[in-house]
Amino acid sequence: MNNIDGNSPIGFFDSGIGGLTVVRSVTNLLPNENIVYFGDTARVPYGSKSNSTVIEYSMEAANFLLKKNIKLLVVACNTASSVALETLQNNLPIPVIGMIEPGSDYALHTSQNKIIGVIGTYSTINNRAYSTRLHILDPNAKVYEKACPLFVPFAEEGLVDHEALRLVAAEYLSELKSKGIDTLVLGCTHYPTLKKIIQNEIGPEVTLIDSGTPAANIVEDYLLEKGLKNSSHLPGTQEFFVSDVPAKFKEIAERFLGKVISNIHKIDLEELIIQR
Ligand code: DGL
Repeated sequence: MNNIDGNSPIGFFDSGIGGLTVVRSVTNLLPNENIVYFGDTARVPYGSKSNSTVIEYSMEAANFLLKKNIKLLVVACNTASSVALETLQNNLPIPVIGMIEPGSDYALHTSQNKIIGVIGTYSTINNRAYSTRLHILDPNAKVYEKACPLFVPFAEEGLVDHEALRLVAAEYLSELKSKGIDTLVLGCTHYPTLKKIIQNEIGPEVTLIDSGTPAANIVEDYLLEKGLKNSSHLPGTQEFFVSDVPAKFKEIAERFLGKVISNIHKIDLEELIIQR
């Protein structure tokens, strides 16, 4: 690892495009930061895989990004944050920020009636990542969780307005609608891309929580505390790596980040897989 300073990039990874929602929040707050992103598009989804597989993939992604001399790693994936955060924090020489704590803290702060819904992948929901954290913060909070695995392919395909998505959302969210929640955690970084249909289905009175916003605040706090905030006045650079053909990624990423992206590179999975 070379010397890390303010100019070193922040690393992000996700199974696919979802982490771009976190990149967007971080670049809105910290436009001068350089960014390196890895989307494991060859192996998406992570949310229906075993904990040991997600830990293995997460370590591979982290080791790839470490070679880019990142100063901080943002696990821009709730599934990986749910099952691999501790392993990453224990094994990496740099700080690692996940999605669960910022999202839970923000949800609890936002909710008036402390009846909170959480939607996420099978992995995030079955591991009870959010409900555990929410109950540590407030043992009396009522938390209702629902896995919504079909949302990820809709997001990856960019079908954010499709009628089929509306039907799927109606089915997934019907039970939560009867629980009196006033806050719904979008516990998967892909879901903010589907916000419009999710909000329509759950109703306007429910506040949607996107973990990217509070995570960006934590990134800023850390950089300020360590004197690692980029002091450049120029817009930060952004570099993207994917493990499968980048065409679709480019289209969706451009739509999502609202700008043309030229530097997307495909990497071979072999390059990623740790030699044992
Ligand atoms: N974006 C991811 C998350 O936040 C993972 C989606 C998936 O790969 O299943 O959980």
